[in-house]
Amino acid sequence: MNFKDEIRQGIPDQLPEQASYDLSVNHAPNRKDLLSQDEKHLALANALRYFDPKHHSVLAPEFAKELKDYGRIYMYRFRPKYRMYARPIEEYPAKTPQAAAIMLMIQNNLDYAVAQHPHELITYGGNGAVFQNWAQYLLAMKYLSEMTEEQTLVMYSGHPMGLFPSHHDAPRVVVTNGMMIPNYSKPDDWEKFNALGVTQYGQMTAGSYMYIGPQGIVHGTTITVLNAGRKIAKHGEGLAGKLFVTAGLGGMSGAQPKAGNIAGCVSVTAEVNPKATQTRHEQGWVDEVIQDLDELVSRVRRAKEGKEVVSIAYQGNVVDVWERFDEEDVYIDLGSDQTSLHNPWAGGYYPVGMSFEEANTMMAEEPEKFKEAIQSTLRKHADAVNRHTAKGTYFFDYGNAFLLEASRAGADIMAEDGIRFRYPSYVQDIMGPMCFDYGFGPFRWVCTSGNPDDLQKTDDIACSVLEKIRLNSPEEIQQQMADNIQWIKGARENKLVVGSQARILYADAEGRMKIAEAFNQAIARGEISAPVVLGRDHHDVSGTDSPYRETSNIYDGSQFTADMAVQNFVGDSFRGATWISLHNGGGVGWGEVMNGGFGMVLDGSSEADRRLKMMLHWDVNNGIARRGWARNEGAIFAIKRAMEQEERLQVTLPNLVDSSTTEGLF
Ligand SMILES: NC(=O)c1ccc[n+]([C@@H]2O[C@H](COP(=O)([O-])OP(=O)(O)OC[C@H]3O[C@@H](n4cnc5c(N)ncnc54)[C@H](O)[C@@H]3O)[C@@H](O)[C@H]2O)c1
Repeated sequence: MNFKDEIRQGIPDQLPEQASYDLSVNHAPNRKDLLSQDEKHLALANALRYFDPKHHSVLAPEFAKELKDYGRIYMYRFRPKYRMYARPIEEYPAKTPQAAAIMLMIQNNLDYAVAQHPHELITYGGNGAVFQNWAQYLLAMKYLSEMTEEQTLVMYSGHPMGLFPSHHDAPRVVVTNGMMIPNYSKPDDWEKFNALGVTQYGQMTAGSYMYIGPQGIVHGTTITVLNAGRKIAKHGEGLAGKLFVTAGLGGMSGAQPKAGNIAGCVSVTAEVNPKATQTRHEQGWVDEVIQDLDELVSRVRRAKEGKEVVSIAYQGNVVDVWERFDEEDVYIDLGSDQTSLHNPWAGGYYPVGMSFEEANTMMAEEPEKFKEAIQSTLRKHADAVNRHTAKGTYFFDYGNAFLLEASRAGADIMAEDGIRFRYPSYVQDIMGPMCFDYGFGPFRWVCTSGNPDDLQKTDDIACSVLEKIRLNSPEEIQQQMADNIQWIKGARENKLVVGSQARILYADAEGRMKIAEAFNQAIARGEISAPVVLGRDHHDVSGTDSPYRETSNIYDGSQFTADMAVQNFVGDSFRGATWISLHNGGGVGWGEVMNGGFGMVLDGSSEADRRLKMMLHWDVNNGIARRGWARNEGAIFAIKRAMEQEERLQVTLPNLVDSSTTEGLF
């Protein structure tokens, strides 16, 4: 059967052959066995409801075995045999290019070169799922192949509830992931309800079909490392010969060595999973792999002395690196961590002193013991970091819940006031005040032709738009503009594409709107050969409410509210997004964050022009307004500027209160 017919078929009527468990692929760790006997029956019945009863007698024992062996029912038998990748848009069977573009984005999220655990439909972050099982994938793709511009596909945590009548201007897909009654939003609730097959952890761009491989994060990471370097520079010098130590070569963390190279330092990134190390090394994202600590110490000394720009992967536990570098007095200039501590008990963080395999067995068979091992590792980890920072290392939390989980493990990580952490998060010190408050965030696009020439054209267009805007930009955003222009100029040379022909570029509201407008015009003129998908990471100005990350530089108490993310999702939907998503969890863990995003298809039409201007303006200024109301200086500046540029925008501004006014009143 050809690809188009296979997509149209959805869940096949005839059972495909049973698939063997492919050991050459990176698989999700076995999940905890939390369900009672009754709940296991329920999980099975929930899974079987996707299939004709004539198949139940074959599928029931098979799914029961999956649940027993892996803690989840993935329905491996239904994994398609065709290659999973972002095909050129015309290869998708669809009645509207909007639906075809969404199919392309879904397949990209599941591409073996892109996804972390492709057979378990996990794109990144250990648990960031596109779907819960293969039946949901098949059904969603079938619906997309049938939908018209008078319908909207409704996605409940990976489950396609169906196509509902809507209208031309409505989103084609509305995605929600992990929306729980708040009291049922703890990590073990995810384990339970995900095993039951009724919810999933969509992370950010996984469950919203907007992941573009590690490139998406390289840019943000480069900006972070560069600005961290500016913070520690004593005389305005760059990062040459300076050492950056961190961990994780996974989905997002895999961008760190590349960012280190672009920023011009020596970097050491520890990684416990040999498959992850191998993938990044083969892709050229990390230069060298070292397995031995003695060798690592001497290699790093040589690299620092020679001011080499080099990225080194250490195959092993990061705690060993921090401890050995302390013993050997290897000075670390910048330090961070990008293990998946938003997911500490299910494979996001590995205990020191045991092999990767031993840890995986303990995780599945002795979860309580595993938890203790994790917490004692976190205490050691924090102690070693503390010894380095006492010598002068600048350490920042990379939004992976390191400080949060370390504090929960009783590590010595609190500031003297006992309320705040001893170290800043990268958003508090860098991304928040320098980027988000001014509206700069991870804008991105995908050329649906799959043609690298189209991508080059979009890069050139974006660069010339930014250069034009920069001429009249205020001093406050000149550094941002310069960094972003430099990034887009070097983008092709840095070979950032993994998967779809995509580009990320930090831009503010004005930049995003003008770049998108120029793309749409180039499509209309035929200079770009096919539609372009616009989107962004949820990790942005307005998309995410997350008190320990995106909104950690909000200090008016509202960092624990989620109005901004929900408003963002709703507001994008009626201003023209092609698809929208709202997620619980993403980045820092279930129950810890609310985040949303969008996708928008530009097809060169005047309608696309209207939509992009209306939606992108809101999508950025919503967050700036909220940040300004929280009294963030940069955001007050940016929202006043936005009001000057658009007279229909009227935002409530805060009156600043002198602290002496409230002193002594309580
Ligand atoms: N890059 C960013 O801008 C950014 C922003 C915010 C948050 N984050 C956070 O960073 C974390 C990582 O994201 P990801 O997509 O790379 O996740 P991932 O799970 O794909 O990668 C994490 C990697 O860390 C490795 N690891 C775990 N414990 C280790 C240890 N003790 N020593 C060495 N390696 C260890 C794992 O094997 C895994 O490969 C997440 O929590 C994410 O939310 C990243």
